[in-house]
Amino acid sequence: MNITAHRLPLVALLFALAACGRSAPPPAAASKASPADPALAALYESSCRDCHTAPGSGAPQAGDAAAWAPRLAQGKDSLLDHTINGYLGMPPMGMCMSCSEDDFASLIAFMSGSELQ
Ligand code: HEC
Repeated sequence: MNITAHRLPLVALLFALAACGRSAPPPAAASKASPADPALAALYESSCRDCHTAPGSGAPQAGDAAAWAPRLAQGKDSLLDHTINGYLGMPPMGMCMSCSEDDFASLIAFMSGSELQ
């Protein structure tokens, strides 16, 4: 008997299992969605998203309402001040040098899922 042909079903099974593992979502994944507005999405994807969808970064994750709640409680002025001037691990301007203050407010609202008060 040809030994290679004999092993084919096992090889096929291993590939099937590997594919299955790849399609499982990572635990506690942040939302990878982008803002609906294309201009805002472009700003987001080249700055905030790098950290705010990377759980190891220490940043409150996009779509994680519980992580954002105590931050939002500071109010809009504080949030914008911390975004523009930096705050602990949060770099000044969130590494988006072309973002306006309105862009920052929209990006924070998008990531936190709440309008700023
Ligand atoms: C290099 C990584 C990085 C990037 C890029 C980044 N952030 Fe952050 N951000 C952080 C980290 C880390 C924190 C948590 C700081 C802390 O409280 O320790 C944070 C916190 C924040 C907070 C909460 C501040 C507070 O007062 O509690 C806001 C708002 C924020 N980021 C907005 C943004 C926006 C808007 C962008 C994109 C324009 C952005 N960030 C890009 C890392 C980043």
